[in-house]
Amino acid sequence: MCALDIRPAIATDRLVLRGPVAADAPQIAELAADGGVAAMTAKMPHPYGLADAEAFVARCQAADANATPTFAIQHREFGVIGALGFDARADGRPEVGYWLGRPFWGRGYATEALKAALVWAKAGWGRNAVWAGHFADNRASASVLIKAGFLYTGDVERPYSVARGDVAPTRMMVWLA
Ligand SMILES: CC(C)(COP(=O)(O)OP(=O)(O)OC[C@H]1O[C@@H](n2cnc3c(N)ncnc32)[C@H](O)[C@@H]1OP(=O)(O)O)[C@@H](O)C(=O)NCCC(=O)NCCS
Repeated sequence: MCALDIRPAIATDRLVLRGPVAADAPQIAELAADGGVAAMTAKMPHPYGLADAEAFVARCQAADANATPTFAIQHREFGVIGALGFDARADGRPEVGYWLGRPFWGRGYATEALKAALVWAKAGWGRNAVWAGHFADNRASASVLIKAGFLYTGDVERPYSVARGDVAPTRMMVWLA
């Protein structure tokens, strides 16, 4: 596995967003083991162990970074605190997703990371619109998306959540550059 990553880093006052590397896996596994994190996402399994984190890093490194750029969110003092990535929807539209470890909730880090990622998406990636969706019971993520400038589209999707083992009503939003 290659430890180098050519993706650009995004810097904020407190954070750096950069491509995940193999050395991040233990910290990612520790933070993502919290069922309260995975249950708010579609794809993260629960339980979540080191092998899941290693597979996540390997997928990121093998992926086309221009199509689905994914970043480890690194705090300048505390190291990796979560992840943020852009997926490609079936119609090719970019959809952003993110999570943070529970010890780092409630300090504005997700909003700070997302705002910076959107600046990059426009200036560094050439995107004029980014979609996102939050589970209807995820008030914290709704707040993050609103603070970052997303608006509700009115669509409600019902993706399967691996950790929930069920579909989850998801309120869709869009950000226009
Ligand atoms: C969602 C998540 C990323 C938020 O991270 P964070 O760094 O705590 O977010 P921020 O501090 O930037 O903002 C959180 C906002 O939600 C609000 N909030 C937190 N919990 C809330 C709740 N239960 N009900 C309503 N609002 C809530 C906070 O008050 C804050 O808003 P404010 O600044 O207007 O007061 C984090 O909770 C997380 O990783 N959750 C699990 C995974 C997840 O939900 N990912 C997103 C999937 S769409």
